[in-house]
Amino acid sequence: MRVVITGASGLIGTNLAIRLLDEGHQVFGVDKDPNPWTDRVPVQIEDLRNTSGEPGADWGQADVVVHLAARAKVHESVEHPGNALANYTITHRVLEYCRRTQTAVIFGSSRETYGEQATLPVSEDAVRVEGAVSPYAAAKLADEALIRAYARCYGIGFIIFRFSNVYGRYDDLARNNRYIPLLCQRLPRGEPVTIFGPQKTFDFTYIDDAVEGVYRGIELLVGAPERVSGEAINLGTGVGTTLLQAAQLVAEAAGVEPKLSFSTMQVGEISQYVADLTKARTLLDYHPQYPAARGIPEFYRWWQARYTPVGSRR
Ligand SMILES: NC(=O)c1ccc[n+]([C@@H]2O[C@H](COP(=O)([O-])OP(=O)(O)OC[C@H]3O[C@@H](n4cnc5c(N)ncnc54)[C@H](O)[C@@H]3O)[C@@H](O)[C@H]2O)c1
Repeated sequence: MRVVITGASGLIGTNLAIRLLDEGHQVFGVDKDPNPWTDRVPVQIEDLRNTSGEPGADWGQADVVVHLAARAKVHESVEHPGNALANYTITHRVLEYCRRTQTAVIFGSSRETYGEQATLPVSEDAVRVEGAVSPYAAAKLADEALIRAYARCYGIGFIIFRFSNVYGRYDDLARNNRYIPLLCQRLPRGEPVTIFGPQKTFDFTYIDDAVEGVYRGIELLVGAPERVSGEAINLGTGVGTTLLQAAQLVAEAAGVEPKLSFSTMQVGEISQYVADLTKARTLLDYHPQYPAARGIPEFYRWWQARYTPVGSRR
């Protein structure tokens, strides 16, 4: 297979590209930034916000596009709502490539599309436009709607994956400042961490589970599209972990007493989410292998080996 991956220098894109290459497939990556982690992933540098020229004119033919490129920081979109428009523009450009070449697309959506839900776990049909709590969430909802319109008008096959708090190797603090990497950086150094809503509960998804789900989706969308095309599917672990528990798991892995302080939630956030995985299990035979108690220590070891100078490791 030849797979175009947008956002191929990011966390999910890098790990997915490596998995595809390991399985003997071809990858054509597109990203505005070079890949900082590996030379293995071929990446064409291209800012997909650029609206001049034909979208994907030099991408060649693909069996499927995995569209992951986006400004992925939720809170940043509250400060800079123009990021939402950028994300929507990028998706439009990618879909134009799919329309011209009649290529199916897999889209990296988010649990943010559900907004605040009173009942857990959350199944795919709970998505609601009224629930958008941030410009980032609004853009993901709009992206999903545009994909469905392209499917109906132009016959484009698709799967929408709704990711949830993905963490794992090939991440850093400079790009996304995500919670688990932040804990891995600060807690072992004895630096304080402020948790905005310690009882907030999320479905933290280890990267290998997320990639496994996407990989299965690619195989089916290309090989048996009638079984999966047109579906939105949650990927997660199906189990909630509070922000406080996540911090305790990192502290345990590091063998330190965490210095934590607590504050209230920030604007643009939701307080709880756990993925209902019934659909992922049924359609993809997806069975996550990394509950937080396994995945977080796994990631901590990667982080420590990469970012902690030898000699100061605990
Ligand atoms: N990681 C998560 O927890 C999570 C959760 C829900 C949804 N998602 C979605 O999944 C996708 C991948 O997430 P990720 O964690 O790998 O994010 P990431 O930030 O690590 O990677 C995104 C990549 O997109 C690229 N990009 C951004 N704007 C671009 C542009 N204008 N042109 C070309 N490339 C551009 C970035 O350079 C980056 O390499 C994103 O769409 C994100 O919104 C991720």
